[in-house]
Amino acid sequence: MVLADKIDTERLPRHIAIIMDGNGRWAQEKGEDRLYGHLHGVESVRDIVEGAAELGVQHLTLYAFSTENWDRPEYEVTGLMELLVDTIRKEVPTLNKNNIKLHVIGDTGMLPAYAQQELAEALQETSANTGLKLIMALSYSSRWEIVNAVKNVAADVKAGKLNPEDITQDVFHQYLATHEFPDPELMIRTSGEFRISNFLLYQLAYTELYFTNTRWPDFRKQNLYEAIIDFQGRERRFGKTGEQVKKEEITNQ
Ligand code: IPE
Ligand code: IPE
Ligand code: MG
Repeated sequence: MVLADKIDTERLPRHIAIIMDGNGRWAQEKGEDRLYGHLHGVESVRDIVEGAAELGVQHLTLYAFSTENWDRPEYEVTGLMELLVDTIRKEVPTLNKNNIKLHVIGDTGMLPAYAQQELAEALQETSANTGLKLIMALSYSSRWEIVNAVKNVAADVKAGKLNPEDITQDVFHQYLATHEFPDPELMIRTSGEFRISNFLLYQLAYTELYFTNTRWPDFRKQNLYEAIIDFQGRERRFGKTGEQVKKEEITNQ
């Protein structure tokens, strides 16, 4: 039995988020420059996007560049930007062929003008697609997102559009960069690091976390299937007891 057949497609995570980590070390272990790792990381992105779309996953968020990554050496930042823009431009026809809609979350105003332009075009060109939502986290950090949300909430209160008593979790969610998407059900981090690195801190409240030692440039569909199978073997309790959860499963059947 092949790995993909072990996946219950009726119980797929609605939203998978991935911290694509380990490109630099992957390259350095081969005696290559870190950018060589990023270049190979793009092949993993292609394979995983294709794999998620084939399975019927609805949302896939990929952490491609954090706010903190701007502090990396200039040649790496420039190289990464060029690679990101070049890849997005080249992938648009494939995204359209596979009915994939591109979204971006992050402080994109920090991106160079040419990158913002290319992104805007790619968003526009894929906007009518109705299949997988591919959400690229670019110049993203969760603290930036939350502070930005709070600023906008405060502005709406000041303008008399929002009453502080009416601020519920649902209302606050509307101010987040991810307001269009459900919270991730599965979060994968590659490369053997056990941290969140400022990624979706609010949205990951009840997400199942999956860590693998595989470096991102080696991560392929089979690794994604393994993560989903692992996810499907877990009991998600959301604060309740295991007995309550089992009872609810029986009544829902
Ligand atoms: C992930 O790989 C890609 C980005 C953060 C842009 P890294 O570049 O962080 O690779 P390591 O973690 O240094 O190996
Ligand atoms: C997180 O990886 C950001 C991305 C994958 C884009 P980092 O490599 O930047 O995270 P740290 O510095 O190891 O926590
Ligand atoms: Mg890293």
